Amino acid sequence: SLIRKSGKTIGVLVPNLGNPFFSRFLRGVEEEAIKADYVPLIFGSDNNAQLESRHLFEAIRRAADGIIIASAVSDLNYIDKVLSQNQIPYMLIDQAPVHESDMVDVNNYHGGEMLAEHLIKNGHQRIVIVSANNPTRNMKERLQGFLDTYQKHQIIIDPEQIITTELTKKGGYDTTEAVLAKKPTAIFAINDELALGLYRGLGESGLSIPDDISIVGYDDIDLSEYFTPKLTTVHQPAFEMGTTATQLIINRIENEGIDNQKIALPISLIDRDSVRNIN
Ligand code: RIB
Repeated sequence: SLIRKSGKTIGVLVPNLGNPFFSRFLRGVEEEAIKADYVPLIFGSDNNAQLESRHLFEAIRRAADGIIIASAVSDLNYIDKVLSQNQIPYMLIDQAPVHESDMVDVNNYHGGEMLAEHLIKNGHQRIVIVSANNPTRNMKERLQGFLDTYQKHQIIIDPEQIITTELTKKGGYDTTEAVLAKKPTAIFAINDELALGLYRGLGESGLSIPDDISIVGYDDIDLSEYFTPKLTTVHQPAFEMGTTATQLIINRIENEGIDNQKIALPISLIDRDSVRNIN
């Protein structure tokens, strides 16, 4: 018979299905889920809090055994109440807030530090940062690592040098004029998608990367080595973040009452061709 004893389902909530970072993450989730005979139920919340809570209820209604939340749930207390009431284990990752529970950590602060060190070493002091309108915890951390590193080198990046926009390619593209008005020698785009949008904007403005302006991103999405010039960025292990989050949630589902599980995954600077040495 096709009637199941247990659904063996994991709900997965991501903020943006269109971003290659999350497709890589979801491929990791899927691979690991299949290994353990689970089915991932995938939801994209389009950065919309209402849609996000609807998805959450759907996951509960469809009896997910556990839920991985990679988006910035609007009210963590509420989520915790709803899921705990229904005895559904969950784990928070990436954009989600930090929580005393199972956790996969990638050190965003250090990512910001590495990019700043790289730009400083290459002589860049006039920086514009392109960030998200409502930066989530992980983005705030990478920004802080970046700003602190500049400060350690006695270079203050004025808050006016930070431009915020929608976290998409178009969001990046749309900031081109505002970025150029500030006359930076280098741009830190808080993720690769923003950087990709800026590549187009800068090109249309007749500027050449890195001869006229340097740029760095964050994530190392698969496209970033197909940009011209290839993008210098921080590699986040999106696939492993997916496999690890899935291992942890399955462990939690199958072994109630185990201690909090914490795993740190390494990141690295991928030094490609989008930064010029102006020393
Ligand atoms: O590209 C999407 C961004 O959102 C990434 O930097 C990732 O960390 C996620 O939070």
